[in-house]
Amino acid sequence: MSIKTTSVILAAGKGTRMCSSIPKVLHTLAGRPLLEYALDLGLHICNMSPIVVVGFESEKVQEFIGDRAKVVLQNQQLGTGHALYQTADVLRGQSDMILVWAADMPLLSKDMLEAVVNCQSENEGPVSIVTSISSNHRGFGRVIRSEGGEVQAVVEQSDATSEQLTTNEINVGVYCFDSLWLWDELSTLKPSANGEYYLTDLIESAVLQSHKVGVVTANAGDEIIGINTRVHLAEAETALRARINQSWMERGVTLIDPDNTYIGPNVEIGSDTIVLPNTHLEGDTIIGAECTVGPNSTIRDSVIGNHCKVECSVIEQAKLEDEVDVGPFGHLRAGAHLDSGVHVGNFGEVKNSYLGPGVKMGHFSYVGDATVGARSNIGAGAITCNYGMDKQKHRTEIGEDVFIGSDTMLVAPLRIGSRVRTGAGSVVTKDLPDDSLAVGVPARVISRSVDDKVQSQDE
Ligand code: UD1
Ligand code: MG
Repeated sequence: MSIKTTSVILAAGKGTRMCSSIPKVLHTLAGRPLLEYALDLGLHICNMSPIVVVGFESEKVQEFIGDRAKVVLQNQQLGTGHALYQTADVLRGQSDMILVWAADMPLLSKDMLEAVVNCQSENEGPVSIVTSISSNHRGFGRVIRSEGGEVQAVVEQSDATSEQLTTNEINVGVYCFDSLWLWDELSTLKPSANGEYYLTDLIESAVLQSHKVGVVTANAGDEIIGINTRVHLAEAETALRARINQSWMERGVTLIDPDNTYIGPNVEIGSDTIVLPNTHLEGDTIIGAECTVGPNSTIRDSVIGNHCKVECSVIEQAKLEDEVDVGPFGHLRAGAHLDSGVHVGNFGEVKNSYLGPGVKMGHFSYVGDATVGARSNIGAGAITCNYGMDKQKHRTEIGEDVFIGSDTMLVAPLRIGSRVRTGAGSVVTKDLPDDSLAVGVPARVISRSVDDKVQSQDE
């Protein structure tokens, strides 16, 4: 019969050392809450969905977890041993082994967790732990060994003697327990000097019962960065950024300055794209091949086609087809859809609008809640006045091959036919038929055909 393992993620602590009103596990790393990393691992590691112990600001944490994991509440944060004990009612008799780790270790790998599960499957004793040799302790517990090299105990930094503090073997905080042994032992844990029930005290309990502690020794790489302070958070951010950026460079993306390029874990980038410094690619963003992005740009939850250029711009929840060129200083907001060959120049803003193939809006314009037909030109300073005095948003429909003159105000709701031209500074308040030319404030049609001679405005 196969061994059944359940994973438990400890996430109830306040994270006092973060000096924050936000629970530690909801602080973000590369734009994702720390807990997201633990959940991701938990969903891929054991044959049952993980259990998360929540406590401090439990409603916020539970809301974030949603239905991705079972949640157990630790009402008072009395330590890691107490936290795990809260799962006894749910897990007793349900699982052969219990894999435990802390949600403040976001860079742990699946391999490490599997290694400790494998170690415990072969261990006759009731517990296996992960240790690492590192002079950068980050406040971790120290692993105490006997002269013969057997693990004797884990001692917390605050309780360790000066001699114990000289050891460089640290407790990574990943454990796999035999569940038949675990629950009774947890019930007998005694509080430490600071009143907390330490999960780590179970190591010594096992040794005192003459059991052997299984040990997996991990490399002291970035995997073992545990987040107890914001300094650790910044270290983890740097490490994860280096990991992500290296992997993109290995996959054919040029990063001019990888230390100053910020790419989220869910971003996709096509080959031969060049990312210039101080560019932030965030959320579920996809960038095509052979694009140039940056410098100083943010692209969030957006899809960019191939051969696009984005310079010093902010793009959020927008879609760009191929060969689109934005910036410098463009702002594409939610629902902006730019078809192939569109050009949005400096200080152009587009929101909730479709710009057809080849549309140009070179300078200082705003297009919101609009559709702009192919090849139309939006002149400098032109604006769709989409927000009415009725406090509602209204649409502007613009046909193909339209020429919107500089500083035109298009007062929505409005339909502008194809091949329409508007004079500079016109304020268009009424629909304009195909081929017409309108000028003035409010704008009047002075010609109904592109072939017409333009008539005098006084007529
Ligand atoms: C813990 C270990 C330490 C190890 C380190 C590795 C103990 C006593 N110490 O220390 O040996 O080197 O992790 O990261 O276990 N939590 C709860 N409820 C609580 C307290 C904590 O759920 O009452 C959770 C926290 O949310 C956190 C995890 O347990 O995710 C670890 O707690 P933390 O206070 O960060 O322990 P460390 O001091 O890091
Ligand atoms: Mg910690």
